[in-house]
Amino acid sequence: MASASFVKPNVLSSPWIAQRSFTTHPSASSPPPPRVSFAIRAGAYSDELVKTAKSIASPGRGILAIDESNATCGKRLASIGLDNTEDNRQAYRQLLLTTPGLGDYISGAILFEETLYQSTKDGKTFVDCLRHANIVPGIKVDKGLSPLPGSNDESWCQGLDGLASRSAEYYKQGARFAKWRTVVSVPCGPSALAVKEAAWGLARYAAISQENGLVPIVEPEILLDGDHPIERTLEVAEKVWSEVFFYLAQNNVMFEGILLKPSMVTPGAEHKNRASPETVAEFTLTMLKRRVPPAVPGIMFLSGGQSEAEATLNLNAMNQSPNPWHVSFSYARALQNSVLRTWQGKPEKIEASQKALLVRAKANSLAQLGKYSAEGENEDAKKGMFVKGYTY
Ligand code: 13P
Repeated sequence: MASASFVKPNVLSSPWIAQRSFTTHPSASSPPPPRVSFAIRAGAYSDELVKTAKSIASPGRGILAIDESNATCGKRLASIGLDNTEDNRQAYRQLLLTTPGLGDYISGAILFEETLYQSTKDGKTFVDCLRHANIVPGIKVDKGLSPLPGSNDESWCQGLDGLASRSAEYYKQGARFAKWRTVVSVPCGPSALAVKEAAWGLARYAAISQENGLVPIVEPEILLDGDHPIERTLEVAEKVWSEVFFYLAQNNVMFEGILLKPSMVTPGAEHKNRASPETVAEFTLTMLKRRVPPAVPGIMFLSGGQSEAEATLNLNAMNQSPNPWHVSFSYARALQNSVLRTWQGKPEKIEASQKALLVRAKANSLAQLGKYSAEGENEDAKKGMFVKGYTY
């Protein structure tokens, strides 16, 4: 049974809203709003969503994002001279998901649809591998970005059609959380239309995910592209997150059962100055404290093209004093780069590659606890991975 604290308000019968829009003002002649009872409805999965979100946002752990579409995974494989075949994608994901001890540092893994239905070469489903390691399986549900007509060369995220039935199927297959990544570009404006579309799409996706038992990761990625200063990123991030929470609330999304995946607030990648981890932490936490209610259990940052070491140092700086939410990572590039470089597609390098993954996972686990020191980091971990106009 759902506990009272996680029930959803029924907006239509609320005496506070009283079947009025927030934006219309009652005229003097209009009758007083009817005083109806405050009816409430618990979503079928409310308790489970809260439990799932809490287990992902558990101390010293974060998310391994390996949900690259086949095309993007192909680029990763091409970087080490491998063809983009289903076999190679399976081999790479098997290497990652069967890393011994991964669950000590990783609480959730975001998979692409193909991976959710795949197994190891000896027949154990990837979903079972994750469950046995105490890692929650997740699924990327968006269908990628398309040009947004009427905007300033911006894009919008596809995938709402059929999302409810797809989500129900993913739940049956073992997924317990979802990811929807849309993007906002600072140098393209951003236009009011693009921000509104991004926020509305995320809110509709979040409501549909919760209805089907999946904890939605809400990810409006503010791209690093541009030469703007950090103050401009802060301004855009505040605008974007205020709209996202406005529409999440309008769609009756239960905040205790979501996770956020923001970009860190940094200067644009082409800005003349880099920001120190302390500055990134100060700007990012300022933005989050202004915009994110403490009911949200976890903030799981994306790495966005930062180097492995930079992403870890910035996260560590954000955990130097207590935060209202679990502040952690959901990195793809900043967890996978060393692994790919070590593996090179060679079976005899699998063990070393898994060790490389554990090194990064452990570093970020320490950063989640605010206890990371960069001592002993190799030079490769300090190399940035920013790609202009990156697609996922
Ligand atoms: P990066 O950490 O590479 O930016 O990945 C972001 C992402 O959305 C993965 O789910």
